[in-house]
Formats: sequence, C-alpha cells, structure tokens
Amino acid sequence: MKICVLPGDGIGPEIVAEAVRVLKALDLKFEMEEALLGGCAVDATGKPYPEATQKLAREADAVLLGAVGGPQWDSLPREQRPERGLLGIRKDLNLFANLRPAILYPELANASTLKAEVVAGLDILIIRELTGDIYFGQPRGIREENGERVGFNTMVYSESEIRRIGHVAFQAAQKRNKKLCSVDKMNVLECTQLWRDVMIEVSKDYPDVELSHMLVDNAAMQLVKAPKQFDVMVTGNMFGDILSDEASMLTGSIGMLPSASLDEKNKGLYEPSHGSAPDIAGKGVANPLATILSAAMMLRYTFGLEAEAVRIENAVKRVLANGYRTGDIYERGTTKVGTKEMGDAVLAAL
Ligand code: IPM
Ligand code: MG
Repeated sequence: MKICVLPGDGIGPEIVAEAVRVLKALDLKFEMEEALLGGCAVDATGKPYPEATQKLAREADAVLLGAVGGPQWDSLPREQRPERGLLGIRKDLNLFANLRPAILYPELANASTLKAEVVAGLDILIIRELTGDIYFGQPRGIREENGERVGFNTMVYSESEIRRIGHVAFQAAQKRNKKLCSVDKMNVLECTQLWRDVMIEVSKDYPDVELSHMLVDNAAMQLVKAPKQFDVMVTGNMFGDILSDEASMLTGSIGMLPSASLDEKNKGLYEPSHGSAPDIAGKGVANPLATILSAAMMLRYTFGLEAEAVRIENAVKRVLANGYRTGDIYERGTTKVGTKEMGDAVLAAL
C-alpha cells in the first residue's frame, strides 16, 4: 500500500502532517513518500507538477494532497501556476470521478448560515466529472479579432466520458438512498443535452435508482432552498466546481469536507475540499479534519478498508462531540484548539 504524500502550499503541510499521523497510528504498513506539487514545486523546480512527483504519483496506489496555491504565484504565466499542477495530476492519473460529500455533523448545526431546520441531517454526495468539460476543451485561448482581444474556451464531452461518470454516480446512489439528480444546462447548451441523453441511457442499467434532471441554475437555487431533497448529484467539471463549493457551505464548515478523485481502478487522489488558506498558513490554527477525513476516504475507496475508514470517521465524530473546535468551527462553550491539538484529539479518540 503505497501512498504518495503531497503537502503542497499554505496550510497544506500542517494539515497533511496530522492526517499522516492518523494513518500511521492505524499500524497498517503503509509506505509513504513525499513530493512537491503546486507553488512549492514551482519554487524548487520551475514546474507545478515536476517529473519526480509525476513518477511517484504514478507508482503509488493513492495520493494524499494538502492544498496548492497562494498569492505569491498568482502573477506567474498560466503554465506555472500552482492550479496547473493540480489540473495536471488529475489529468495525468485519469482521475475522472470526483466525490465530494457534504455532511452536516449534528454538533456543527449552528455553523451553517442557513436555518438549522433546513440543513439538519444533511448528507449529500456531489459527483463531479473531473477530467473533461471546458476545463480541458480545445481550442482555448485569447486571440486578436478585428482589433480587439477575444477570449474563448470549449465545453466538450464525449459520450464515453459521460457514460463512465454516469456509472460511478448510479453505483454510488445504489449504495445510498437510490436517488440520483443529474445537473445540466440542456435548455441552452448542446453539450449538456448530450449529457442528459446519455444519463438516461445509462439509467436503464440501474432500474433501482430514481434518476431526475435539473438545470444548473435551478440546482444552485434548490441547494440553498431545500438541500435535503438531494441524495447523489452528478454533473460536469465546471458546474460541479461551483455546486460543490455551494454545497460545502451548507454545512457551514468547508474545513470539514473531504474529497476523493478516482480513476477506473479506484486509484485515487484524496484532498480536503478547501484551499491553501494563505492567510493562516504556518500559524498552527488550520482545521485538519477535512484532510483526516480524506485519509478515511482513501482507506475506503482505494484500499477497501471500510472498517478502518469508519474508525477514523467515528474518532472525528467523538472529537466533535467532546467539544474540540478549531477556529473555523468554534462557537462559545466549546474548546478552541489548534491544528496539532486537533490531531492529538483524533489520535486519542482512535
Ligand atoms: C477545486 C478547485 C480547483 C478547480 C482549482 C484550484 C483549479 O477550485 O478543486 O474545486 O477548479 O477544480
Ligand atoms: Mg473549486
């Protein structure tokens, strides 16, 4: 069981250190090796996804990532931006299926900006296609036309790309409440008309799952109006980027949400859904729970260690029940702790 560890930038190294401690505490004989991705890789090698990292990531069974990016790299040419490293590794490892659960822990019901009754018990899974769409479509660029600049990108999906993410989504729904909502913009975009058509075709293989469709603008509205109507949502790369941020905030605590990005053989990259938070980097106050929960997803999806995954998740629940909170989820009457103390608490609960 080989894990490539990519701490990344900002708070990445701090939160990854805690997840690594948790993995080590399980005594499962993981082989772990660290490499550079993102801004730190640009500083060291000039590239956000250097060859040495690529080699390690390809050889590993799973990748644990902190976060990438920061203001000091924002003015670099696009090819050298940290985000390119992230997009590069997703594409290189063919990690087309991005699973982003949004779960509201009962102890954190007050952390949401939405009314508690709207979000209490929320448990939805957003499945975002991750290696296609306008993120990677060609042609793309900025060109001169009639004496002015014109920017352009291409939204594109092949039938096979839609079908394979469709299967992932239907199978995930089968393991949950058997409700799948596919999100598109078929009233305007042909590409997403195809998306809807193919989802309907794929649904024939899963008669036990109830498939519905929603236009993305309505889905954005329904997510804040009545989010508990959803079980599993599946959508393309761009819409999924936006809707998953929105869904994460229903829980009031993006610092709690893990994610998995999987290929066809369940090799995966696991990372928190939040960013590198440069403003609090190095201060030891970041919330490591999303990264620790990402490690749990790794055990579940790549290594098939369901019991160990649940053990970590239960430890996190116990820690919350015991009142430990990092600053992002702190409320009066609870115990405010830093990154490392939160890691200690999880280890103790384990
Ligand atoms: C995400 C992020 C990335 C994306 C950025 C950092 C490139 O927003 O993982 O959601 O757009 O996919
Ligand atoms: Mg995003």
